[in-house]
Amino acid sequence: KQIIAIVPAAGIGSRMGAEIPKQYLMLNEQTILGHTLDCLLSHPKIDKVIVAINPSDDYFADLPQASHPKLQCVSGGKERADSVLAGLNLADEGAWALVHDAARPCLTHQDIDKLIASATVHPQGAILAAPVRDTMKRTNAEGVITTTVCRDQLWHALTPQFFPVKALTHHLTAALAAGALITDEASAMEWAGIMPAVVTGRADNIKVTHPDDLQLASLFLKNSI
Ligand code: C5P
Repeated sequence: KQIIAIVPAAGIGSRMGAEIPKQYLMLNEQTILGHTLDCLLSHPKIDKVIVAINPSDDYFADLPQASHPKLQCVSGGKERADSVLAGLNLADEGAWALVHDAARPCLTHQDIDKLIASATVHPQGAILAAPVRDTMKRTNAEGVITTTVCRDQLWHALTPQFFPVKALTHHLTAALAAGALITDEASAMEWAGIMPAVVTGRADNIKVTHPDDLQLASLFLKNSI
Protein backbone atom coordinates (compact mmCIF):
# COMPACT_ATOMS: atom_id res chain seq x y z
CA LYS A 1 0.00 0.00 0.00
CA GLN A 2 0.98 3.64 -0.48
CA ILE A 3 2.21 5.36 2.68
CA ILE A 4 2.40 9.12 3.04
CA ALA A 5 3.62 11.17 5.96
CA ILE A 6 1.75 14.28 7.08
CA VAL A 7 3.66 16.75 9.23
CA PRO A 8 1.61 19.44 10.98
CA ALA A 9 4.11 22.30 11.25
CA ALA A 10 1.81 25.31 11.25
CA GLY A 11 1.88 26.07 14.97
CA ILE A 12 3.46 29.18 16.43
CA GLY A 13 4.94 27.40 19.47
CA SER A 14 3.77 30.00 21.98
CA ARG A 15 4.81 27.92 25.03
CA MET A 16 8.41 28.03 23.85
CA GLY A 17 8.55 31.79 24.27
CA ALA A 18 10.99 32.14 21.36
CA GLU A 19 10.79 34.77 18.64
CA ILE A 20 10.62 32.27 15.83
CA PRO A 21 8.23 29.26 15.73
CA LYS A 22 9.78 26.36 17.66
CA GLN A 23 10.05 24.05 14.64
CA TYR A 24 12.63 26.46 13.21
CA LEU A 25 14.86 26.62 16.29
CA MET A 26 18.32 25.13 15.78
CA LEU A 27 19.09 21.77 17.31
CA ASN A 28 22.69 20.64 16.87
CA GLU A 29 23.47 21.35 13.21
CA GLN A 30 20.01 22.11 11.80
CA THR A 31 16.40 23.08 12.59
CA ILE A 32 13.97 20.90 14.55
CA LEU A 33 11.76 20.56 11.46
CA GLY A 34 14.82 19.72 9.34
CA HIS A 35 15.64 16.73 11.58
CA THR A 36 12.01 15.58 11.51
CA LEU A 37 11.80 15.81 7.71
CA ASP A 38 15.17 14.06 7.20
CA CYS A 39 13.94 11.05 9.16
CA LEU A 40 10.69 10.80 7.17
CA LEU A 41 12.12 11.65 3.72
CA SER A 42 14.88 9.04 4.04
CA HIS A 43 12.52 6.22 5.02
CA PRO A 44 12.21 3.82 2.06
CA LYS A 45 8.56 2.92 2.73
CA ILE A 46 7.32 6.54 2.80
CA ASP A 47 6.30 7.65 -0.68
CA LYS A 48 5.50 11.29 0.01
CA VAL A 49 5.86 13.78 2.87
CA ILE A 50 3.24 16.53 3.11
CA VAL A 51 4.11 19.43 5.41
CA ALA A 52 1.40 21.83 6.62
CA ILE A 53 2.90 25.25 7.25
CA ASN A 54 1.49 28.52 8.52
CA PRO A 55 0.27 30.79 5.68
CA SER A 56 2.55 33.53 7.05
CA ASP A 57 5.58 31.22 7.38
CA ASP A 58 8.83 32.98 6.33
CA TYR A 59 11.21 30.16 7.17
CA PHE A 60 10.16 26.98 5.37
CA ALA A 61 11.51 27.95 1.93
CA ASP A 62 15.02 28.28 3.40
CA LEU A 63 15.19 24.69 4.65
CA PRO A 64 17.54 22.45 2.63
CA GLN A 65 14.70 19.87 2.51
CA ALA A 66 12.23 22.33 0.89
CA SER A 67 13.06 21.24 -2.66
CA HIS A 68 13.18 17.49 -1.97
CA PRO A 69 11.23 15.61 -4.69
CA LYS A 70 9.25 13.59 -2.09
CA LEU A 71 8.13 16.74 -0.28
CA GLN A 72 4.90 18.67 -0.77
CA CYS A 73 3.74 21.75 1.10
CA VAL A 74 0.25 22.91 2.07
CA SER A 75 -1.21 25.78 4.12
CA GLY A 76 -2.12 24.67 7.64
CA GLY A 77 -5.22 25.68 9.58
CA LYS A 78 -6.28 27.20 12.88
CA GLU A 79 -5.84 24.06 15.02
CA ARG A 80 -3.50 21.12 14.63
CA ALA A 81 -6.40 18.97 13.36
CA ASP A 82 -7.17 21.55 10.63
CA SER A 83 -3.54 21.37 9.49
CA VAL A 84 -3.69 17.57 9.40
CA LEU A 85 -6.91 17.71 7.35
CA ALA A 86 -5.28 20.09 4.86
CA GLY A 87 -2.55 17.47 4.38
CA LEU A 88 -5.01 14.60 4.13
CA ASN A 89 -6.80 16.44 1.31
CA LEU A 90 -3.67 16.01 -0.83
CA ALA A 91 -3.44 12.26 -0.17
CA ASP A 92 -4.83 9.38 -2.24
CA GLU A 93 -7.97 7.88 -0.69
CA GLY A 94 -6.48 4.41 -0.74
CA ALA A 95 -3.24 5.38 1.01
CA TRP A 96 -2.28 5.18 4.69
CA ALA A 97 -1.11 8.27 6.53
CA LEU A 98 1.62 8.52 9.14
CA VAL A 99 0.85 11.78 10.95
CA HIS A 100 3.90 13.08 12.80
CA ASP A 101 4.43 16.30 14.79
CA ALA A 102 7.02 18.65 13.35
CA ALA A 103 8.18 19.19 16.92
CA ARG A 104 9.31 15.55 17.43
CA PRO A 105 12.77 15.49 15.82
CA CYS A 106 14.11 12.39 17.61
CA LEU A 107 11.99 9.86 15.68
CA THR A 108 13.82 6.76 14.46
CA HIS A 109 13.32 4.48 11.44
CA GLN A 110 12.95 1.50 13.80
CA ASP A 111 9.87 3.05 15.42
CA ILE A 112 8.37 3.90 12.00
CA ASP A 113 8.96 0.28 10.91
CA LYS A 114 7.27 -1.09 14.06
CA LEU A 115 4.24 1.13 13.53
CA ILE A 116 3.89 0.31 9.83
CA ALA A 117 4.21 -3.43 10.56
CA SER A 118 1.40 -3.19 13.14
CA ALA A 119 -1.16 -2.47 10.40
CA THR A 120 -1.28 -6.14 9.44
CA VAL A 121 -2.69 -7.03 12.89
CA HIS A 122 -4.47 -3.72 13.51
CA PRO A 123 -6.26 -2.72 10.31
CA GLN A 124 -8.09 0.03 12.20
CA GLY A 125 -4.79 1.85 12.79
CA ALA A 126 -2.31 2.38 15.62
CA ILE A 127 -0.16 4.99 17.33
CA LEU A 128 3.28 5.03 18.91
CA ALA A 129 2.99 5.36 22.68
CA ALA A 130 5.15 5.08 25.78
CA PRO A 131 3.99 3.51 29.06
CA VAL A 132 3.51 5.97 31.93
CA ARG A 133 6.30 5.59 34.52
CA ASP A 134 5.35 8.06 37.25
CA THR A 135 2.50 7.77 39.73
CA MET A 136 -0.40 9.70 38.25
CA LYS A 137 -2.51 12.17 40.27
CA ARG A 138 -5.73 13.98 39.49
CA THR A 139 -6.27 17.30 41.29
CA ASN A 140 -9.07 19.77 41.77
CA ALA A 141 -8.84 23.29 40.35
CA GLU A 142 -6.85 24.40 43.45
CA GLY A 143 -4.08 21.91 42.75
CA VAL A 144 -5.02 19.58 45.60
CA ILE A 145 -4.93 15.85 44.90
CA THR A 146 -8.30 14.16 44.68
CA THR A 147 -7.28 10.71 43.38
CA THR A 148 -4.35 8.58 42.33
CA VAL A 149 -4.99 7.25 38.85
CA CYS A 150 -3.90 3.66 38.36
CA ARG A 151 -1.04 3.76 35.85
CA ASP A 152 -1.53 0.22 34.59
CA GLN A 153 -2.54 0.45 30.94
CA LEU A 154 -1.91 4.19 30.91
CA TRP A 155 0.20 5.52 28.02
CA HIS A 156 1.70 8.73 26.67
CA ALA A 157 0.38 9.14 23.13
CA LEU A 158 3.27 9.93 20.79
CA THR A 159 3.48 10.32 17.03
CA PRO A 160 3.54 9.07 14.31
CA GLN A 161 -0.09 7.92 14.35
CA PHE A 162 -0.93 5.58 11.47
CA PHE A 163 -4.39 5.38 9.86
CA PRO A 164 -6.09 4.74 6.52
CA VAL A 165 -6.46 8.14 4.80
CA LYS A 166 -10.13 7.66 3.97
CA ALA A 167 -11.24 6.74 7.50
CA LEU A 168 -9.08 9.37 9.19
CA THR A 169 -10.32 12.15 6.88
CA HIS A 170 -13.91 11.13 7.49
CA HIS A 171 -13.74 10.84 11.28
CA LEU A 172 -11.51 13.88 11.82
CA THR A 173 -13.93 16.03 9.80
CA ALA A 174 -16.95 14.71 11.69
CA ALA A 175 -15.34 14.98 15.14
CA LEU A 176 -14.27 18.58 14.49
CA ALA A 177 -17.74 19.51 13.23
CA ALA A 178 -19.22 18.01 16.42
CA GLY A 179 -16.89 20.12 18.57
CA ALA A 180 -15.16 17.07 20.13
CA LEU A 181 -11.84 17.56 21.96
CA ILE A 182 -9.35 16.37 19.36
CA THR A 183 -5.68 16.63 20.34
CA ASP A 184 -4.40 13.79 18.18
CA GLU A 185 -5.60 11.59 15.32
CA ALA A 186 -6.46 8.64 17.57
CA SER A 187 -8.93 10.78 19.52
CA ALA A 188 -10.94 11.40 16.33
CA MET A 189 -11.02 7.65 15.61
CA GLU A 190 -12.02 6.89 19.23
CA TRP A 191 -14.76 9.51 18.98
CA ALA A 192 -16.15 7.51 16.04
CA GLY A 193 -16.06 4.28 18.07
CA ILE A 194 -12.90 2.90 16.46
CA MET A 195 -10.24 1.76 18.92
CA PRO A 196 -6.69 2.20 17.63
CA ALA A 197 -3.88 0.03 19.02
CA VAL A 198 -0.74 1.26 20.77
CA VAL A 199 2.72 0.26 19.62
CA THR A 200 5.42 0.79 22.24
CA GLY A 201 7.73 3.50 20.97
CA ARG A 202 10.95 4.98 22.28
CA ALA A 203 10.46 7.34 25.21
CA ASP A 204 13.05 9.70 23.70
CA ASN A 205 10.64 10.60 20.85
CA ILE A 206 9.74 13.75 22.81
CA LYS A 207 7.76 16.75 21.63
CA VAL A 208 9.86 19.87 21.99
CA THR A 209 7.43 22.13 23.85
CA HIS A 210 9.33 24.07 26.53
CA PRO A 211 12.85 25.59 26.32
CA ASP A 212 14.27 22.80 28.56
CA ASP A 213 13.25 20.20 25.98
CA LEU A 214 15.81 21.55 23.50
CA GLN A 215 18.77 20.29 25.52
CA LEU A 216 17.17 16.88 25.98
CA ALA A 217 16.36 16.57 22.28
CA SER A 218 19.90 17.61 21.39
CA LEU A 219 21.30 14.87 23.62
CA PHE A 220 18.89 12.22 22.29
CA LEU A 221 19.77 13.11 18.68
CA LYS A 222 23.51 12.80 19.37
CA ASN A 223 23.05 9.41 21.02
CA SER A 224 20.52 7.94 18.61
CA ILE A 225 21.63 4.89 16.69
O1 C5P B 1 1.18 22.97 19.94
P1 C5P B 1 1.57 21.53 19.85
O2 C5P B 1 2.96 21.27 20.37
O3 C5P B 1 0.56 20.57 20.37
O4 C5P B 1 1.62 21.26 18.28
C1 C5P B 1 1.86 19.97 17.77
C2 C5P B 1 2.21 20.09 16.29
O5 C5P B 1 1.08 20.59 15.57
C3 C5P B 1 3.36 21.05 16.05
O6 C5P B 1 4.25 20.42 15.15
C4 C5P B 1 2.68 22.28 15.47
O7 C5P B 1 3.49 23.00 14.55
C5 C5P B 1 1.48 21.68 14.76
N1 C5P B 1 0.34 22.63 14.60
C6 C5P B 1 -0.19 22.85 13.32
N2 C5P B 1 -1.24 23.73 13.14
C7 C5P B 1 -1.76 24.40 14.18
C8 C5P B 1 -1.25 24.17 15.49
C9 C5P B 1 -0.19 23.26 15.67
O8 C5P B 1 0.28 22.27 12.34
N3 C5P B 1 -2.76 25.25 13.96
